[in-house]
Amino acid sequence: MIITHLSLTNFRNYGRLELDLPPGPTLLHGGNAQGKTNLLEAIYYLATTRSPHAAADSQLINWDAQQTDEPIIVGRLVAQVETERERRLLEMRLIQEKNRQLRNGRYSFRREALVDKRKVRLMDLLGNLRVVLFLPEDVQLITGPPNNRRRYLNITLCQIDSIYCRTLSAYNKVLEQRNALLRQLAEGEGSREMLTIFTEKLVSLGSQIFARRAVFLTNLAREAQRLHYEELTNGGETIRLQYAPRLEEVTTKQNWQTTDLTAVGEWLRTHHEDTAQIEARFAAALEQMTATEIARGMTVVGPHRDDWSFLLNGRFLSSFGSRGQQRSAILALKLAEINWMKQQTGETPVLLLDEVVAEFDEQRRTALLNTVSQATQAVLTATDPGMFTSKFLRQATPMLVADGQIQVEQVIA
Ligand SMILES: Nc1ncnc2c1ncn2[C@@H]1O[C@H](COP(=O)(O)OP(=O)(O)O)[C@@H](O)[C@H]1O
Ligand SMILES: [Mg+2]
Repeated sequence: MIITHLSLTNFRNYGRLELDLPPGPTLLHGGNAQGKTNLLEAIYYLATTRSPHAAADSQLINWDAQQTDEPIIVGRLVAQVETERERRLLEMRLIQEKNRQLRNGRYSFRREALVDKRKVRLMDLLGNLRVVLFLPEDVQLITGPPNNRRRYLNITLCQIDSIYCRTLSAYNKVLEQRNALLRQLAEGEGSREMLTIFTEKLVSLGSQIFARRAVFLTNLAREAQRLHYEELTNGGETIRLQYAPRLEEVTTKQNWQTTDLTAVGEWLRTHHEDTAQIEARFAAALEQMTATEIARGMTVVGPHRDDWSFLLNGRFLSSFGSRGQQRSAILALKLAEINWMKQQTGETPVLLLDEVVAEFDEQRRTALLNTVSQATQAVLTATDPGMFTSKFLRQATPMLVADGQIQVEQVIA
């Protein structure tokens, strides 16, 4: 799939941008703080309805626009997307109402999604444009907290699987209601019957999420392992992805990754089609934890506390891997993600690479640039285009980014 045209209004440092994008690789270059990353962020936002930096959405609206006296400021992102079968116009609006202040003193902020000019729910925007994003800070997926890894799972799966996305959204709602009720019960209020109802819903929705994640991680792991072994390390190193589903509460806190939950992950992998058994196991775990949950006022087992990890030659990459090994593993993961999306949808996702090419050694850079060259469309950023091979530069369309303006160039000087 490709984006043929992108329009931005009041998005980050782009007051107004109209940009035609060609197929194949586009290389955005220019000095620091000119808007290269912001452009990738805009595309990513249209694809996933999220900012990759997890910042507050209201920060995405152009600051200058916020200085005006207009009561309502609208940030707009529009992309014309083409696949082999169809054309779609995707739009996201970020609306800030300066005449409506919330209790916390902030202005009221809302988002609207449109497909072919018709309003849709935010989650129905997903899947119309699929992207795989490479950022320098991606290694935090290995070294950072579990919510980074859950976020990655959710965003990636939601681009492909609308049922997963709907299930996840329903799960989060029930979770919130159930947690509120647990807090009430702790105060001696609320009803036990309601708890039973919420628990049943949580079990049914949560079990579907566990099963889907187990299948996804198995497939992704297989492909990442193959790529890593064959193309990135010449058969030198083996990586594995290990799912640690919070289908049970763990007793030994320090080394839970190595003990119980890995075994549960294995069990899920082999039982992913057995809904009744997953539900029974999840329900039993919740039942066992009820007293603790009421005391803590929160649901302690369930996919909202899942984790997964990388192993390199059998050891945890988060604690034992060098920075270079961690980067390689992430590269294998992202390349596997591209292949997985291709296989699931028959279309290559749009690749977005922010300053990452410079990070890799020769072999990995070659593997990455091969994938980029073969993609239907890729947008890369670089402060210094000098590190690209001249062969790659001949293929790529160069564009100069300067202060929220983009200029298409013939050749890079
Ligand atoms: N909401 C916003 N409104 C206007 N400018 C913004 C906004 N958010 C970030 N910026 C500016 O965008 C610039 C950074 O753009 P970025 O795309 O990260 O640059 P780079 O070209 O280095 O990748 C900075 O100058 C920053 O101050
Ligand atoms: Mg940047």
